[in-house]
Amino acid sequence: MTPTQKKSSGFQYAGHMAERYDTVAAAHYAAYRPPLHELILDKALGGDARFALGVDVGCGTGRSTIALATYCDRTVGIDPSDSMLNQAEPHAHVSYLVGAGDSIPVPDASADVITFAGSLHYADSTMTRREVRRVGTPGATILVYDFDLQLTPVLTRLGMALPESRSDYNHTANFTGGEGFVERNVTSETINIRMTTGDFAHVVLSDSNRLDYLTSMFGPDTAYSALVSAINAADETVAVNAALFISMYTLAPHDRSDDLHLP
Ligand SMILES: C[S@@+](CC[C@H](N)C(=O)[O-])C[C@H]1O[C@@H](n2cnc3c(N)ncnc32)[C@H](O)[C@@H]1O
Repeated sequence: MTPTQKKSSGFQYAGHMAERYDTVAAAHYAAYRPPLHELILDKALGGDARFALGVDVGCGTGRSTIALATYCDRTVGIDPSDSMLNQAEPHAHVSYLVGAGDSIPVPDASADVITFAGSLHYADSTMTRREVRRVGTPGATILVYDFDLQLTPVLTRLGMALPESRSDYNHTANFTGGEGFVERNVTSETINIRMTTGDFAHVVLSDSNRLDYLTSMFGPDTAYSALVSAINAADETVAVNAALFISMYTLAPHDRSDDLHLP
């Protein structure tokens, strides 16, 4: 069930139905993502910011790392998941390393910008805060951000929304109050973005639960085209709200001989 690009309707599922939703969802994910990482970094850092070494903790498949690389001479993406790193997008000035928030494989006082994009909820711990303080230069910029694309209102209008499920995921996880993290800016806002119906369908089907649900509704070969036609009947582009959560800090200088005793 490997998805392949097709000229007319844009997307087609090849092969027969199997349990490989993750592969298909990953192909939809690769086909289109709204450029929210770029937009958030531009808002937070500004167009002229420049750093020698950027570290992106919880880099996943590298979307957030490549966006950060625009601002850095060298950028390192860190993730504990081999399968994420295996799909990470290559880039001339980016390296990807296995690691985690509590074990960042870069030298002491080397990174002048450190980002957590949609990853602090998973990574936050006393050890992670300590690692960030170890690898950051004095005065380093620490940027924690996340976003929530609000697809449900559009899907509800089309009668295609999944039943709500409970989640304890925290979009607003940040370092506020942590020793050594001097708060610069903590904001949340909702913006409205427009995307084509085809791109909207890719975003919807990049989640394997929604893919499973819509496949059971429309059949294995037609979830993408059914979704596109349903929206096309209403409009050619789709407006989607995205909630943005941005927290930015300056790393306070500290006595590195005390590193073993950091809280
Ligand atoms: C929602 S994804 C975000 C990926 C990427 N930053 C992006 O914006 O596309 C969250 C990532 O956090 C990673 N992660 C999970 N636990 C982690 C930890 N303890 N330290 C660092 N990253 C972690 C996951 O493997 C996953 O790649």
